[in-house]
Amino acid sequence: MAEVRPDTMERITTPELAKKYINEQVEALRAQIGDKKVLLALSGGVDSSVVAALLIKAVGQQLVCVHVNHGLLRKGEPEQVIKVFRDEMKANLIYVDATDRFLDKLAGVTDPEQKRKIIGGEFIEVFAEEARKLDGIEFLAQGTIWPDILESEAGIKAHHNAGGLPEDMQFELVEPVRILFKDEVRVVGKELGLPDNMVYRQPFPGPGLGVRCPGAITRDRLEAVRESDAILREEFAKNGLEGKVWQYFTVVPDFKSTGVKDGKRTFDWPCIIRAINTTDVMEVTVEHLPAELIDHLVQRIITEVPGINRVLYDFTPKPPATVEYE
Ligand code: XMP
Repeated sequence: MAEVRPDTMERITTPELAKKYINEQVEALRAQIGDKKVLLALSGGVDSSVVAALLIKAVGQQLVCVHVNHGLLRKGEPEQVIKVFRDEMKANLIYVDATDRFLDKLAGVTDPEQKRKIIGGEFIEVFAEEARKLDGIEFLAQGTIWPDILESEAGIKAHHNAGGLPEDMQFELVEPVRILFKDEVRVVGKELGLPDNMVYRQPFPGPGLGVRCPGAITRDRLEAVRESDAILREEFAKNGLEGKVWQYFTVVPDFKSTGVKDGKRTFDWPCIIRAINTTDVMEVTVEHLPAELIDHLVQRIITEVPGINRVLYDFTPKPPATVEYE
């Protein structure tokens, strides 16, 4: 099939254009897939969620979604994937809670690159194991988008078939959003009825909270990251900052400091807040939050999150600091 370049295509900016795109894609997907089965790794991110919704519309139960919970997702994420796709859209969804498997493999591993490799490698393994249990799958759906193709062509980043599935697993690819830019994927997702917090969600790295729990990940510190992140997201939403600030999250580093609570000494972790704005992620500026909001966040985090006795704010732009800590 000849590649349609976005520069020859009207940019999808309205519900009407999204509707037209959806109808065309549904037809094309039905023609490509016929009565065969399609597999999709559904992370809950914008791209894979939109691909899932398109395929559910096109081929319904012929789509098998696999949602792997690596234990490093944000609070409420796996629950939302199950609610939206299994309960509401009636998708054929396999949910794998692989938390113990990932955390056992990561135990004691301090090197950031090694942590990333373990998470990526284990993800492929869990996904491949689930795929092997299924019969008659001929297609693999992917949330590849146009910038992935451009970066791949420019040699910036290799575009893998599902991030490197084993050699024996060869599927024909189904990529229904590959000619779209991110903003177009969002318009299409909205038109498909996906919830706003899925369609407009901030970027979230593949290795998840693992890169926000620097050093060797422990369950208690990971929980402190998850709970503080949930408080931050809740407060940003309440204060009208959701969708305005490009990315915001918390980090709980692996060191402790002295504090005092109820007249007794404490020795606990700090929680670092990071909130940034950017257009291309190569250069990043820091969002300056109102002082009252910072005070409120500090109060909530130190009282509600076990193991935290200090809250810090990261004022460093990129460069020199990257967005994530690992
Ligand atoms: P850095 O830390 O490199 O992050 O300044 C730039 C942007 O990329 C996101 N990020 C990732 N996204 N997989 C992803 O899908 C990853 O491994 C990954 N690492 C970083 C980061 O959240 C930021 O938006």
